[in-house]
Amino acid sequence: MVRVQPATPVEIDGYQAEDLAVAVAAAVRAPSQHNTQPWRFRLVNGAIEVRSDPARRLPIADPTGWAVRIACGAALLNARLALAGAGRPADGVIRPAHGETDVVARLVPGVPRPPTPTELALLRAVPHRRSTRGRFSGEPVPAVIRARMLEAVRSEGGWLDLIVGTPAVTAVAEIAHSADRVLHRDERYREEIEAWTRPAPANDGVPPEAAGPKADPGDILPRRDFGGAPETATEPEPEPLVAVLGSPSDTAAEQVAAGQALQKLLLTVTDAGLASSMVSQPIEVPAAREQLRLALGRYGPPQMVVRIGYAMRAAATPRRPAESVIITE
Ligand SMILES: Cc1cc2nc3c(=O)[nH]c(=O)nc-3n(C[C@H](O)[C@H](O)[C@H](O)COP(=O)(O)O)c2cc1C
Repeated sequence: MVRVQPATPVEIDGYQAEDLAVAVAAAVRAPSQHNTQPWRFRLVNGAIEVRSDPARRLPIADPTGWAVRIACGAALLNARLALAGAGRPADGVIRPAHGETDVVARLVPGVPRPPTPTELALLRAVPHRRSTRGRFSGEPVPAVIRARMLEAVRSEGGWLDLIVGTPAVTAVAEIAHSADRVLHRDERYREEIEAWTRPAPANDGVPPEAAGPKADPGDILPRRDFGGAPETATEPEPEPLVAVLGSPSDTAAEQVAAGQALQKLLLTVTDAGLASSMVSQPIEVPAAREQLRLALGRYGPPQMVVRIGYAMRAAATPRRPAESVIITE
């Protein structure tokens, strides 16, 4: 008779300060609206807490905290990849209890294991991902990469629509431009962008060298004006691949999940040697967001419009040091 040994439960140590350091180093490379970096991290009883920093929410552009949750979700995905890369993957993500408004998620360690090839590839892409606002070459994005993009978003519970053909791209672009016009009517919105346009040595905000060319009425999608110089190219801009990422519903938890899906998409694109940038105007204006949802025939709300294509590498934006985002008390 063969005796089956009962599986001995594996003792898993809680996360330590060195795990927190690994997670935070990657997390802070996430994108955030106007590079506000609205996140904080804390080690509590062996768990890593990802928290939002309400003081860094943009009062005019982000009245509901949507952009903070997208950015924190992106930071959370980077933290998960870094922990997996160190052989100490998180055992899922524990959502905050009711009333814990600033806690985005808690990461608790799972059974140690080596990282998967996909985790490693995405982790390696973290320092290389940048918002590239300049023009893309007209080279199409290969079908195999499009398939990887769709899978990346699906694996984080989101949906992704690739907008194919000039009439469809034009329809999305029109919604985005009309949202941009609505937003720019508000002087406080323009002032907020100006206030976050900061040259070095600032460690947050967008430096003009990362801004891409100055916004022009001929741009296919609206460009945010972070003080870039006028475009020098004279020929028309080739159409980028336009993708719309969305979620099943619009709860705070779904927005955090959408941030994770967005970051997985951006890292997948980076790993494939492509550039990307985000266009959030049609999400920031509720009527435009609804128009976009209806145009796509989706039940759940869009959470971000993304431009994807081949381009020159953009300049990096700065980050605050890890010490200023780790809560020690
Ligand atoms: C919620 C959200 C909204 C954003 N909206 C825009 C946008 O409309 N236009 C743009 O150029 N960049 C947008 N960004 C990109 C940020 O400006 C960018 O992530 C930040 O400046 C840091 O630069 P990096 O992405 O190169 O690391 C957005 C990012 C997030 C997370």
